[in-house]
Parts: sequence; C-alpha cells; structure tokens
Amino acid sequence: MAKERPPRQAEKPYRIAVIGGDGTGPEVVREGLKVLAAAAEVGKFRYETQEFDFSGARYLARGGDPTKPSIPIITDEEMAALRTFDAIYLGAVGDPSVAPGIIEKGLLLRLRFELDQYINLRPVKLYPGVQTPLAGKGPEDIDFVIVRENTEDLYTGMGGCQYRGTPHEVATQIMCNTRHGVERCIRYAFDLCRKRSDKKLLTLVHKTNVLTFVGDLWFRTFNEVGEEYPDVTRDYNHVDACCMWMVKNPEYYDTIVTGNMFGDIITDLGAMIQGGMGIAAGGNINPHGLSMFEPIGGSAPKYAGQNVINPLAAIGALAMLLRELGEEAAGDRVEAAIAYVTARKLKSLAAGKMGYTTTQVGDLVADAVRRGLKA
Ligand code: IPM
Ligand code: MN
Repeated sequence: MAKERPPRQAEKPYRIAVIGGDGTGPEVVREGLKVLAAAAEVGKFRYETQEFDFSGARYLARGGDPTKPSIPIITDEEMAALRTFDAIYLGAVGDPSVAPGIIEKGLLLRLRFELDQYINLRPVKLYPGVQTPLAGKGPEDIDFVIVRENTEDLYTGMGGCQYRGTPHEVATQIMCNTRHGVERCIRYAFDLCRKRSDKKLLTLVHKTNVLTFVGDLWFRTFNEVGEEYPDVTRDYNHVDACCMWMVKNPEYYDTIVTGNMFGDIITDLGAMIQGGMGIAAGGNINPHGLSMFEPIGGSAPKYAGQNVINPLAAIGALAMLLRELGEEAAGDRVEAAIAYVTARKLKSLAAGKMGYTTTQVGDLVADAVRRGLKA
C-alpha cells in the first residue's frame, strides 16, 4: 500500500524489530532473517535488526503467574522502544505453560491494538508443487486475499460475566464495530482490490441475516464507499456460505473484506486450502504507521527445538514486510524463491515431512533469492 509517512532517507538502514516469541517462533524467524540478508545483498538496501524476547518463558522467568496475567508481557519502556522501528517481524505466540489468553492478549493483541494495525492482510495463495486438500484445484484456482479488520469486533474485550460459577451465570462478549473502524478497513480493501488483479471483485463477508446491527453497518458502509470505486465490482457473501465457496469454488474470489472474528476463522480455512499452516503468512498493517508481519500459524510447541518446522510461512511474512517497507522487488524475489522451493524441492509442507530440516529450507530459499530462481 502507498505510504503516507514521510519518505525515508535512502542512506538510512531499515530498522526491524524481531520478536521470536514462543515455541517454534524463534526457529522460523531465524530462517526469515537469513532470507532477509540475501534479499538485502541483492536488493542493495541496508537494515538493522533488534531482538525482543517477549515470550511465555520470559513471563514465567520474571515471576509471572501462569494462571492469570500478573505482570506485563511487554513493558511500557519496551513498547516505546518498539514504536521507533520501521517494521516488526514476529514468530509465534502461545505457550502451554501459561493459561490461554495471557500471551495472546499481552503480546499479539496488545501490539495490534496499540499500534493501531487495523488491517490483517492474509493472502491465500497456492504455491506451485504444493498439495491442496481440494481435489482438482491448482495454483490458478487458489489465489485471493482476505482483508480482516484487526482492532474491533469481538476482540475489543467488551463484555463480562456475572454470577460466575452459579447456575445463574451470565456471560456476554460484545461484537463492537465503529463506523470509523469499518470504513477505514473497507477503503483499504477497495484500494487493494483495485490494484491486485484484473478481476476487481471485492466480496464483503458477514452475517447480515442474523447480525442485523453490526452486519448492517458493514453492508451500508461497503455500498457507500463502493460508490467511489465504480471500477470495482461489489459482492456479498454470508460467512457460512463463504466457507462453502472457499472449498467448492475458491477460484471465484479475488479480494474478501470481513470483520475480525469471521476473518480469524476463514483465514484458517484459507490456510488449509493453500497447503496448511506451514505456508500461510499475514501482515498486521497500519497503513500510516508501524506494521507487524507473522506466520499465521501458532507456536507448535510439540515441534519446538527440533529443526523440523516449516519456515516458509515466516519467510512469506518477510516478503510481505519487504513490500510494506517499499522494497517491492525484494518482496517479489523472495516470493519467487519460495515458489522455486515448493515446486522443485520440498516433498511436503508438513513439519518433519519436508525432506529437509528447518534450517535447510531457509538455506534453500536464501540461495534461490541470491540466484534469482523462480518456479
Ligand atoms: C490469529 C490468531 C490470534 C487471533 C490469537 C492467537 C489471538 O488466531 O492471528 O489468527 O485470534 O487473532
Ligand atoms: Mn487465528
């Protein structure tokens, strides 16, 4: 996306904050950084990285309560330091020794919200040579992008619980959307759709037949903003029907825009049809500020430290990071190198079944970047 930030001085290196995180996160990020080094060499740009150890392990080591949040995962000083970077590169969050939600909220969601990364951009792209579970579908059929709103909806934490543990217990979790939040997301999606392919089909995914308040806000905003984009065809799917079409006719889609919760769910479905969590990358984007890129899968604790996890999703996230920095050619080159490796080298994308170790896959991609190899 076009930046509205002031142009950076060419001689200044990009500053990239690196958060390995939990489980296999540090391993996959390490391979991404290898590829970054190769891309910088070829693309003749300079960069610096700084690692931040935000993780479940550090939380526990500092005396954090494993059952409930008791100390911050990221301190305010660290938060201020992070803000000075040009991009954040994140591995994974989630540690089974800490109750669910502590790291997710204290790290991932905190960064998304506080840095106002209101777009979660998740391409669904079947690379050549990758097996999809969808019979009869190939790379030409599975190539679309999901724009997930990333700061509102069921993720705001609004709601509560009364009479907990009694038969009268009441729990609410509020789906909160604002006109401002919906509109900026929809505008981003229209802009993206306009330039990503000749199809120019933007599908709003929601559940207007049941969510008559929030769905209506999305639907009205979509149509109002859409008037400014006469070249983009407007389309609407209920989220349940979208799940059906993503499996049956994925070739139908070009760009999808949706709310945070539906986006969370359908992007896992998208990850599966593009070959699994080993390859699915995403970006948490603030189009006017600091963005963060990550593989969309989890921390896979059972594979941690074994050098078997697939780093391609993290490397794909790096390609997105490069594009967001304005290094389009480098991003394209990394993506082409991933396609070379999936088409020519890997036996499978699954952890432990690739025919190569994590570090070897990183080496293969870095080498392909240096040599400019394509599928
Ligand atoms: C994702 C994840 C997160 C989310 C979790 C870990 C909070 O599932 O990035 O899709 O729900 O957004
Ligand atoms: Mn998810």
